[in-house]
Amino acid sequence: MAVYIIEGSTPLHGNIRVHGAKNAALPVLAAALLPPESEIEGCPRLSDTAAAMNILRSLGCRVEQQPDSTAQVDSRPAQGWEIPESCMREMRSSIIFLGAILTRYGRARVSFPGGCELGPRPIDLHLAALERMGAVIREDHGALDCTVPMGRLHGAEIVLSFPSVGATQNVLIAAVLAEGRTILRGAAQEPEIDDLIRFLNGAGARIRQDFAGTLIVDGVDSLHAVRHRVIPDRIAAATYLCCAAAAGGSITVEGCVPAHLAAVLPPLEQAGCRVRTWRDAVAITVPKRLGSLGWVRTMPYPGFPTDAQAPVMTMAAVGDGTSIFVENIFESRYKHAGELNRLGAKIKLEGKVAVIEGVPQLSGAPVSAEDLRGGAALVIAGLAAQGETQVMHPQYIDRGYAYFEENLRALGADVYRI
Ligand code: UD1
Repeated sequence: MAVYIIEGSTPLHGNIRVHGAKNAALPVLAAALLPPESEIEGCPRLSDTAAAMNILRSLGCRVEQQPDSTAQVDSRPAQGWEIPESCMREMRSSIIFLGAILTRYGRARVSFPGGCELGPRPIDLHLAALERMGAVIREDHGALDCTVPMGRLHGAEIVLSFPSVGATQNVLIAAVLAEGRTILRGAAQEPEIDDLIRFLNGAGARIRQDFAGTLIVDGVDSLHAVRHRVIPDRIAAATYLCCAAAAGGSITVEGCVPAHLAAVLPPLEQAGCRVRTWRDAVAITVPKRLGSLGWVRTMPYPGFPTDAQAPVMTMAAVGDGTSIFVENIFESRYKHAGELNRLGAKIKLEGKVAVIEGVPQLSGAPVSAEDLRGGAALVIAGLAAQGETQVMHPQYIDRGYAYFEENLRALGADVYRI
């Protein structure tokens, strides 16, 4: 079994370049079922993107990833309309393939994604929207059996009661080739949504934003080949900034979009870090002691991202004073808190609230990653702790960070995977 071994308390220095965004690449790969050919530059080499490419292969697409990370998808030979259960289990967000498969074949069968490490992940908004567009969905022995009796989905007026990122992506993908106009209100506004729109419009779709949260899609009859570059990963960028904040030192994260980090940078500044931004880079210089972060509440974009909650919490654990986090997006997203406490942190949980009393020093110990961002938070804690920290189950971290330990070593950290 692989494990990360971290010898902590070494300040980080230097520059790091972030890879393409996992959360942008995954929906773009799902949407790549629709244009005949897609060339996706900056597709990060992660276990989740590998899983998405395997789903495309299982449907009959030809998929290759070049050494420079560009993914090439030829969807012309595709014929399958069923996602194997093993693929669904490997990546529960594979539900974003539903809209694409249904659009292409008028039929789809996927197993129910069920609960996951972040608590129940309902898909009622996805299904209700697709039903409004003409899909008939039946639950059958733990699988979703979907058909489009009219052959082609049709446009509809859809209102999301919560700006779900996944549901917005499914509706957009389903709407581009639907008959007529789809108006989606209450849509998510994450940068990864804009990226998907750029990909689809690049292939000939007609999607426009009316005002914030309202998307208008005029269905077209076909899409053409497309070349697209995935946006930089804002969560990976935030994670590296937190690595430096917790371990000390001064680093520059290059190749990112500072505007996408607008909600993450103020807590870092509040803790006393000096943050400077350029067009495509953010530099952080960390004080001798971090201060409290005050209140951090996760919210849909442009609010503070739920994916950055765990990494930023680790910083709060080693700062002076008390910080309070409120997790508003997912129910069970504090699994890392118990493991951080094993390293000497003082975190108390009450429902969606976490109260973090900063301690002068964490001390290394064996801990276990239980989800992607929580796993990254434990590596960050290991970088700050005195002595050796072992982080078990690094496969969770591989879902979202390419060359994580190599990148950290390049910044001076003592991190190995054995
Ligand atoms: C969420 C995050 C996204 C992040 C991703 C991976 C938000 C709003 N979304 O996207 O930024 O990158 O996780 O960690 O921060 N929900 C329903 N019914 C549905 C769909 C969602 O009730 O049909 C609820 C979920 O239970 C959850 C909330 O809506 O409480 C957010 O879900 P959603 O945005 O759909 O999740 P992801 O697409 O996974």
